[in-house]
Amino acid sequence: MDNPNIAGWSAMAQKYQSESDISTHEIHISPFGPGALSLGLITPKEGEKYLELGCGAAQNSIALDRRGVNTYAVDGSEKQLKNAISLISSSGARTKLIKSDLEKLDWLKPHAFDGVVSCFAAEFVTDFEKFIDSIYYTLKEGGVMLLATVHPLGAFEWDELEGYLRVNDYLNPPVEIWNEQINSDESALTIFRTLEDMYSVLISYGFTVESILEPTPLEDPLQSPYKGRYWEPYLQRFKKIPFSLVFTARK
Ligand SMILES: C[S@@+](CC[C@H](N)C(=O)[O-])C[C@H]1O[C@@H](n2cnc3c(N)ncnc32)[C@H](O)[C@@H]1O
Repeated sequence: MDNPNIAGWSAMAQKYQSESDISTHEIHISPFGPGALSLGLITPKEGEKYLELGCGAAQNSIALDRRGVNTYAVDGSEKQLKNAISLISSSGARTKLIKSDLEKLDWLKPHAFDGVVSCFAAEFVTDFEKFIDSIYYTLKEGGVMLLATVHPLGAFEWDELEGYLRVNDYLNPPVEIWNEQINSDESALTIFRTLEDMYSVLISYGFTVESILEPTPLEDPLQSPYKGRYWEPYLQRFKKIPFSLVFTARK
């Protein structure tokens, strides 16, 4: 039996891919927001080796491949990986796909990658410390991690009518449970973590945090590498409350 978050994503994969419009020319870090490459958050070079964790249909790895980077993309969901296979083949990328649970990354080799990218996957990992430890372990000295995950304020209810957020306990953000998608006793979970919690873990594993971003929609949101019907109901909210929290950190 798959981890419930992987099973949940397999159930969601078709809807997510068909309703999201995700560029294969940029690294997407926030719906309707700017891309990481145009912001210069990371500067991958030809011939370097990058790992993507929780790749979905591997759009980010394909964008890196277009820059001559050797890319390895990991996801646990067979459905998502099928989408990745067709996108990789239609774009002519050389990205290598690996099926693995992100909770079990013990197979990673030390000092193997110049960069690790993970966008919107860490929130589905229950052991964030182990996840960060695995990334640190597999990066070369001086290697970079780009981590985009859900903003802790994303845990709270948006009052559409009033245009404000109902935040009762920021320090203990609620866990989002989405078990309607899967046939399991266990629930799929989205885990929201505070900025301090995540920052502290990165520092404690030895990372130097170089930047923290809370991206908001572009003036023309349709120029974003991450958009589509899936996200449209949230555009007004994202103009006031960021969807993503983005870290760049160096080993
Ligand atoms: C929101 S999608 C993000 C995909 C891609 N990075 C993107 O931004 O479109 C989350 C991805 O994480 C994967 N995922 C969630 N939990 C996982 C786990 N425990 N192990 C492996 N993959 C997992 C899902 O299969 C899904 O493809």
